[in-house]
Amino acid sequence: MDAAGSSLPATSRASPDAVPDVFPDTAEISPAGHLIVGGCDVTVVAGDHGTPVIVFDRQTLERRARAFCGDVPAANVLYAGKAFCCVAVCAILRDLGLGLDVCTGGELATALAAGFPPERIVFHGNNKSVEELAMARDAGVARVVADSFDELRRLAEIGWDRKVLVRVTPGVEAHTHEYVQTGHEDSKFGFTLADGIALAALRAGAGQNLDVVGLHAHIGSQIFEKEGFELAAARLAGLAADAQESLGLEVRELDLGGGFGIAYTRDDEAPEPAELVASIAAVARRAFSDRGLPVPTILFEPGRAIAGPAGVTVYRVGTVKRIPRARGHAGQHDRVYVSVDGGMSDNPRYALYRATYEAALANRMEDPATLWCSVAGKHCESGDILIEDVLLPDDVAPGDLLCIPATGAYTYSMASNYNRLPRPPVVLVDGGQARVIVRRETYEDVLRLDVPLT
Ligand code: LLP
Repeated sequence: MDAAGSSLPATSRASPDAVPDVFPDTAEISPAGHLIVGGCDVTVVAGDHGTPVIVFDRQTLERRARAFCGDVPAANVLYAGKAFCCVAVCAILRDLGLGLDVCTGGELATALAAGFPPERIVFHGNNKSVEELAMARDAGVARVVADSFDELRRLAEIGWDRKVLVRVTPGVEAHTHEYVQTGHEDSKFGFTLADGIALAALRAGAGQNLDVVGLHAHIGSQIFEKEGFELAAARLAGLAADAQESLGLEVRELDLGGGFGIAYTRDDEAPEPAELVASIAAVARRAFSDRGLPVPTILFEPGRAIAGPAGVTVYRVGTVKRIPRARGHAGQHDRVYVSVDGGMSDNPRYALYRATYEAALANRMEDPATLWCSVAGKHCESGDILIEDVLLPDDVAPGDLLCIPATGAYTYSMASNYNRLPRPPVVLVDGGQARVIVRRETYEDVLRLDVPLT
């Protein structure tokens, strides 16, 4: 098959380009042309554990976590559990000395099950329940990021006696998908700087005898430029100066959130975390000292940039279908649908954000990729697409193992049981060992909440 009449660039891919940077650090190709990650042949992992399966590379996770630590001490790098939270990942990051950002009781329960030290946990969320706040209080969680006046009242009512940071929307529009922008003013998160509302929140917190120690801002996600962070830091320094002057309140901690982008496709040029955080932290510190304020402790909350590059999702190709342009497809080229045994239930990111990804065949990485394909899932919905346009070998066929790299973040954590599909397992690979860290769901699991009528 070829993609005659394609409007897409007529490029092809072959080794060594077949393992671009979007794959985990340990990715290589075996003499048989198989994808190797963490010393494990991915075709063997797929054979042993079935498909779909998320292969998660421990070395990549650890290297990326460490890359954020240095300029900022490890305990002040608060991994955002929303990216991918399971007991094993929490335990690995616990042992590296990182902190953790949780935003629900479920994430907190996972962290506690992993023995994550509560003094390194920060609790986020725009609508934490009283039960969740009490759970965090009883567990000894060190910090809560207050997101509303209602919550400040609730914290006082439950006798929260540890640190409180106030979440501010600094009016920065990060260049990212609208759904993952959060720092602009019209947002459900935090307190806006406009009309003195953020200052009023600091006053309210202090007035309720809460230990208000700092400010927080998270401007969005999948951001490549540092300017937005720096602008946010400067605006928070301005607020800190106002707080010092009008309330006598010292901002001792400045949490600049997460949002550091990663490469999803070979065209993405993601910044190196170490340089990025050092540069943003330097600008933030200067913004405080320039105003004659004490330099605060800086915290960050990277999620995607730690977990994303570690994951590769491996599917089995089930059907290959060609829709000729002559039959009226809207596009300029013949559409070839390669359908796999997962889909929007294990990775809803294309459906939600039109996210882009690369793909390759894990069982024949060296075959030139010359055919433009769309990778579709198995759900009963035409929007169930994983990748809209990607080059694959032109004889891609049922039985091939299609892998999608950079799927370690916001895939499993956003997975569902749509169409009653069991969720895939997560297999941690390291030094040639493959270990299940989240097991595959069974049909019994899918049925476990159903209460039959008697
Ligand atoms: N801190 C806070 C307060 C956050 O809300 C988030 C992400 C993070 C840290 C971590 O951001 P990261 O470093 O991972 O970009 N589901 C979307 C992403 C939503 C992010 C929500 N908040 C996606 O798949 O792109």
